[in-house]
Amino acid sequence: MEKKVFPKEFLWGGASAANQFEGGFSEGGRGLSTNDFVTAGSKESGRKISIRLEDGSTQFIDVESSIPDGAVGVIDDSTYYPSHAATDFYHHYKEDIGLLGQMGFKAYRMSISWARIFPNGGLVGEKPNQEGLDFYKKIFMECQRFNIEPVVTLYHFENPVYLADHYNGWAGKETIECYIRYAQTVMEEYKDLVKYWIPINEINVLRGYARLGVRDTSASVRYQALHHLFIANARVNKLGKEINSEFKIGCMLALSGIYPQDCKPENVFGALDFRRRALFFSDVMMRGYYPSYAANMLSELGATIETTQEELDLIRDFPSEFLAFSYYRTTVYNTDLPQRVDTGGQLGAENPYLEKSPWGWPIDSLGLRYVLNELYDRYQKPLFIVENGLGMNDDVTSRGTIEDDYRIDYLNNHIREFMKAVTLDGVELLGYTTWGPIDLISSGTGEMDKRYGFVYVDLDSQGKGSMKRIKKKSFYWYKSVIETNGSVIK
Ligand code: BG6
Repeated sequence: MEKKVFPKEFLWGGASAANQFEGGFSEGGRGLSTNDFVTAGSKESGRKISIRLEDGSTQFIDVESSIPDGAVGVIDDSTYYPSHAATDFYHHYKEDIGLLGQMGFKAYRMSISWARIFPNGGLVGEKPNQEGLDFYKKIFMECQRFNIEPVVTLYHFENPVYLADHYNGWAGKETIECYIRYAQTVMEEYKDLVKYWIPINEINVLRGYARLGVRDTSASVRYQALHHLFIANARVNKLGKEINSEFKIGCMLALSGIYPQDCKPENVFGALDFRRRALFFSDVMMRGYYPSYAANMLSELGATIETTQEELDLIRDFPSEFLAFSYYRTTVYNTDLPQRVDTGGQLGAENPYLEKSPWGWPIDSLGLRYVLNELYDRYQKPLFIVENGLGMNDDVTSRGTIEDDYRIDYLNNHIREFMKAVTLDGVELLGYTTWGPIDLISSGTGEMDKRYGFVYVDLDSQGKGSMKRIKKKSFYWYKSVIETNGSVIK
């Protein structure tokens, strides 16, 4: 049996999301998104959402809290909302795609802002916003000029406000219908320009008003909404292939890895059980059915959901054809930490073997090889690393340069490990898109101090700056990685 060679057609690139990168929130006929009410936070304090109560007063509540009855999202004039201008891809898209082209990108993952296409979400009879359609078309044409394959996410952490307020976001079945009209509109519009589609970003971390559009945070509402997303995912899989049989449509999860703290059997079993809280989502979408452990898991979470046989048949008949995931770090599980009820993302116990980023995220390149093997063993379908990277506060030197060797090290080590997963372990990997190739707003904290890019953007965490783009040292390094199809990796 021969060792696999690293594929020539590998999709090297980077990834972004409209709510963190695009900006232009009130331009070009765009409607409001739930994320437009989310304020900036910091390493220490979480992000808030601004709401207007029935008595007319404005309050800033935790981004994941329930929205009180009668309250609505509101934009407060004296508050900075990072998504409104983000890092202004809206006005810089030509320059930005040109920069990606200079690095030799083969793929660019980005999201469409649903409310830019349908300001009210796609109600019956609502016409798509032509300016919105034209905007994304210009982006895809620009990508084509540089032979960059767009990988398009349809739903990345923002819900049209109209649907959140009238149907309780994804908890209402009406939202599925609106989403399908939106998906059909863009898939038909761009069927000759876009081949790779990701219906939903990080489904396993969706919760609350901002990301899921739901007003109340009970487990039943959340999991009902997620069930509706499974239906939407299956319907997009079906619809997409009808529009263009060449489309490749994959699901997407946050899947940083999880280790048991030690060989104490409760910790080993607990880690497996905890991991299933996340893998549950890919089990449903990749295999096409609710796994055997789902009933117990949902009852432990206190979630009761309604499903019909017709919906379950749809999920079974139209599974995802590849699994895309984000990987940033690993978590250590032990039974004493209160993290069993969630779906990943927690930092867990200390891992004495790993260094951490300033945001406390353990840096674990071998963990990426581990996760790739874990997922490929489980599903035997192609994988796609669509987010990875190191968030750091970059300094601009007096010469105007950014010497981000720490980023080069992080990425070099992660690339080395996924190349081993491909060539030694035989994992089928479609590509690798690093997070935020041009600096963008942090999703977790709303800061600009946490940067991932190869290109620096002059903007601070208060929203001040010229938006000027500056190539970092890692720009030239990543260009050489792509040029040599990874052979410069140490
Ligand atoms: C993923 C999201 O969770 O992680 C991105 O899909 C996000 O939207 C990324 O930006 C990194 O997280 P953060 O908090 O550093 O921006």
